[in-house]
Amino acid sequence: MIKTVFFTAITLIFFYIIWINNFFAHREKYEMPEQHAKIAEDVKTHAKEGKQLFEQNCKACHSVRYDAVYISSVQANPELKTLQEKYGKVLPRDVYESVFQKDLNGLKESFGKVPPDLSTIYLVKGKEYLYNFTLEPQKVLPGTSMPPVMIGRPEETAKIVAYLKSVAEPSPEEKSKRTLMGVGTIAYLVVMGVLIWLWRGKILKKMGLH
Ligand code: HEC
Repeated sequence: MIKTVFFTAITLIFFYIIWINNFFAHREKYEMPEQHAKIAEDVKTHAKEGKQLFEQNCKACHSVRYDAVYISSVQANPELKTLQEKYGKVLPRDVYESVFQKDLNGLKESFGKVPPDLSTIYLVKGKEYLYNFTLEPQKVLPGTSMPPVMIGRPEETAKIVAYLKSVAEPSPEEKSKRTLMGVGTIAYLVVMGVLIWLWRGKILKKMGLH
């Protein structure tokens, strides 16, 4: 009995951490005005404009590979089209990075490092961080070589965050599919566990242990 309670508790804590609140992951708190948080959340309304703003303000240095948005110098390279015919619109990372190494190295020379691809940055950093960093990079990451391209434009920055959210997060259909699969898997494990527990007497008897 004690063992059952113990393992149930461990399992519950495990799923609480990976699904609900991972208190091991360090996350600093950043402020974000309510109305801008709303904009960043509302992917449906703002992601499209956010993408345009991204292309105007960020694409010189950053790609969003998952959305087939590549840095400007790559986008202007006719080789991109040839590669996309071969691999599809979203190029595999190794192909992108090796074929366009010269472009990426050029950025590295100017800024000390290659500006990261922003396909999944939303999942890693969250909206408050992205909003604050993009608005005032120096304030959030002192010494960073990212220029303050959005200074004084908080609302447009929030729209860019909405765009990054739309790319990083799976679509609603995909999300509900995953939830269903997760619930299904756990239900299966629970049912199997109960059945095995119910049958254990029989099994032990068969083995001559009871
Ligand atoms: C002129 C080049 C340039 C432009 C334009 C630019 N960035 Fe950056 N960005 C950088 C560089 C370089 C870094 C790496 C900075 C570092 O790690 O110190 C960076 C890093 C970042 C990071 C990662 C921060 C982190 O904590 O690791 C984010 C997010 C980001 N940029 C968002 C944006 C957005 C959004 C825009 C457009 C509004 C933008 N950047 C425009 C050069 C640029």
